[in-house]
Amino acid sequence: MDKKSVKFGLMSDLHLDIMHDGADRLHDFLRACDEQQVDFIINNGDFCYPKDTSKCLCSEKNLPVNLANAMKISTPVPKLELLAEFNSYHKPHYHVLGNHEMDFCSKEETIQLYGMPGAYYDFHCNGWHFLVLDSNFFKNEKGQLTDYYYGNYFDYRSEQPYLPESQLQWMKETIMSSEEPVVMFSHQPLLPVSRGLKNYDRLQEVLDEVRKEDPDKIKMCVYGHIHQDALSIDRGIIHYSINSISNHWIGPKYACRRFSEETEEKFPNLQYVFPYEKPIYGMVTLNEEGLHIEGVEGTFFKPLPAQIGFDEYEVSAGVRTRSVSWPR
Ligand SMILES: [Fe+2]
Repeated sequence: MDKKSVKFGLMSDLHLDIMHDGADRLHDFLRACDEQQVDFIINNGDFCYPKDTSKCLCSEKNLPVNLANAMKISTPVPKLELLAEFNSYHKPHYHVLGNHEMDFCSKEETIQLYGMPGAYYDFHCNGWHFLVLDSNFFKNEKGQLTDYYYGNYFDYRSEQPYLPESQLQWMKETIMSSEEPVVMFSHQPLLPVSRGLKNYDRLQEVLDEVRKEDPDKIKMCVYGHIHQDALSIDRGIIHYSINSISNHWIGPKYACRRFSEETEEKFPNLQYVFPYEKPIYGMVTLNEEGLHIEGVEGTFFKPLPAQIGFDEYEVSAGVRTRSVSWPR
């Protein structure tokens, strides 16, 4: 292997509570990671609701249909066993906090159940420095940044997500004291896009201080959340959106029952997604020249989005295989 080459298995947005076949998807990912001999595996958030789905603090008027359904019908999926499988993988394994982890749970409880070192943390592998961030914060009426907690954030949809100042300072110090190239993981996009970071400008001020010392140190930011396959370059940093391993959430407007009555009854939110026919994920290799993503091409379960009249934006049920050089 090249000097400074690292390979990791990247999956996101498994949503075990929505999918009838989430266990198969996870097993397929872990099998592929074995085959590809990755150095570590990482879940980029929205793995599952880690606890029972009875307590949610969101007001009734803002309660999304997926949460309302989860409160009515609890999933038959053995989520903690599947989590244990991920966590007993024979290579290092990491989690990023997704927003849905905190729909019926606190961050502290999730961190404990997932065996995470904290809401945000860093680790090293093969000469690379990885930072895992927690952007699950909203701004309340008083202007205070507040942790996502038992679904409270659905009452503040236009005021999320944020990275708090304390975490930005930790990020700056961690990167500036690092000798290695840096990759950051967050569930939400660290970009000024819809559903992206609200304090993007403040993040850029912090990153500018880092770039002043070393303009090339931060190589890449990885995010999930939007369930789309996309790559962009923003101010010299590659931002990679890893598609969901499972589905594209679309909501009641395009509700469609594709499976047996029994399955649809047990998994009442399945009708609100465009389910991917097979599990999709990326095997990501980083080296001195750039990154290579070995993806999985897939399709949607029928009827396809276009067959039920969906044309609002582009959706894909795959992870594209691609190679990109580091921006200079
Ligand atoms: Fe998600």
